Amino acid sequence: MAQEDVFKKIVSHCKEYGFVFPSSEIYDGLGAVYDYGQNGVELKNNIKQYWWQSMVLLHDNIVGLDSAIFMHPTIWKASGHVDAFNDPLIDNRDSKKRYRADVLIEEQIAKYEEKMAKEVAKAAKKYGEAFNEEEFRRTNGRVLEYQAKRDALHQRYSDAMNAGPDLNELRQIILDEEIVCPISGTKNWTEVRQFNLMFSTEMGSTADGAMKVYLRPETAQGIFVNYLNVQKTGRMKVPFGIAQIGKAFRNEIVARQFIFRMREFEQMEMQFFVKPGTELEWFKQWKETRLKWHKALGFGDDHYRYHDHEKLAHYANAATDIEFLMPFGFKEVEGIHSRTNFDLSQHEKYSGKSIKYFDPESNESYTPYVIETSIGVDRMFLSVMCASYQEETLANGESRVVLKLPAALAPVKLAVMPLVKKDGLPEKAREIVDSLKFHFNCRYDEKDSIGKRYRRQDAIGTPYCVTVDHDTLTDGCVTLRDRDTMTQERVAISELCSLIEDRVSIPSLLKKI
Ligand code: GAP
Repeated sequence: MAQEDVFKKIVSHCKEYGFVFPSSEIYDGLGAVYDYGQNGVELKNNIKQYWWQSMVLLHDNIVGLDSAIFMHPTIWKASGHVDAFNDPLIDNRDSKKRYRADVLIEEQIAKYEEKMAKEVAKAAKKYGEAFNEEEFRRTNGRVLEYQAKRDALHQRYSDAMNAGPDLNELRQIILDEEIVCPISGTKNWTEVRQFNLMFSTEMGSTADGAMKVYLRPETAQGIFVNYLNVQKTGRMKVPFGIAQIGKAFRNEIVARQFIFRMREFEQMEMQFFVKPGTELEWFKQWKETRLKWHKALGFGDDHYRYHDHEKLAHYANAATDIEFLMPFGFKEVEGIHSRTNFDLSQHEKYSGKSIKYFDPESNESYTPYVIETSIGVDRMFLSVMCASYQEETLANGESRVVLKLPAALAPVKLAVMPLVKKDGLPEKAREIVDSLKFHFNCRYDEKDSIGKRYRRQDAIGTPYCVTVDHDTLTDGCVTLRDRDTMTQERVAISELCSLIEDRVSIPSLLKKI
């Protein structure tokens, strides 16, 4: 099945099984805004818990914070977001559709790459085992032509982006490459303009003189402006970290691929404050620690790769992305940045207040350097859904859709089912739910055949199902079914809790990091 179709299936599965709904759906939705349903919110909360505990439970020098979404507007001036948090946009006059000029060009570069890949695939099919890809790419006329066009375009695009960006040059590239609007099919483009991604609103009534405030585009600045409060009240010593989970808002021009790029989303960010000069060592350490966190989920090491940034933002001295293999290719899920002392220095300058750290060991005051780990909850959610969604054909020829979620992240850990709706079996099943619900999320299900009930639980990723039958009333045992292997074993009710709790708890995952 084409990866595009797999992705479409995952999106509709999310809706059908109560994971993700389009926002305001009965009013035809709101672009790039989504709601999480009854199962989605559980999965999302589990992802957040896994991250939070890995930060504040596993590190005695990392503490949490929950700062407000509204902050003093000068914060965004100091951080550079007012002046530079922009995307270059272009409109097509015929379709009235708006695009990111940089994305249109990047897609054109990708088209040349696709054309080369098609030539290679065709030749590989033709020559079979004798095919030498490296030689073919080096000598085939068509491939060389596409490669030359791709490289020239890439160079021109990089130069334009590095020059400010040069908006006239971006438009000229679009015209020269004869890029058309996918809706109208025309090349009737407007000028390219810079578009600030921050949402703004007004605080206070107009009569009082309202103040323009922004919905935060990242949670990080709330950490920076509180770093000294936390350091002093928590008596923290450098190196130490502050972790925060919260909503962020960006008026994305091109919002696509479901919850991958949203206008309202959630971030999990940790700023680690270190002594100047030690930051690259800490950067390396956090890069490794964060990848281990991802890999502990068990989706396979081949699903991850680093993308080290060649061109760094002016305030960074190292940066990398952790990319995850989505159905639409390797995509950024998390960014790890060595941000020097840029943000703290800027806040010191704009607030006029000293926020230096006094180091009792060296007896000196300095502005700490910062390593940031920043991951999107929604993107993480999407990566977990994509890696877990599977369609299987069973030995009896039937098929099933199963979400092979890591048990610790699954919305429901155990479904308890009476074999029939009579003879005291429902009462016994409810008794089991009542005793286990204090330990983990249990669900009672008595509707339809046992087979159908198993399929329903497979589709939401429930790792265990328990069936209560007539023997249960006399021998005190139930049948425990494993989601992935579909094997069944007879287990005493008294052992259920200890047997399952260990396997579905967040600590069971934390121990794998
Ligand atoms: N404080 C640094 C920062 O915000 P970023 O690379 O812009 O860095 C960090 O964002 C992470 O936030 C990304 O790796 C991604 O997971 C998530 N993210 C950013 N923009 C997003 C959007 N529009 N929708 C969903 N997630 C987004």
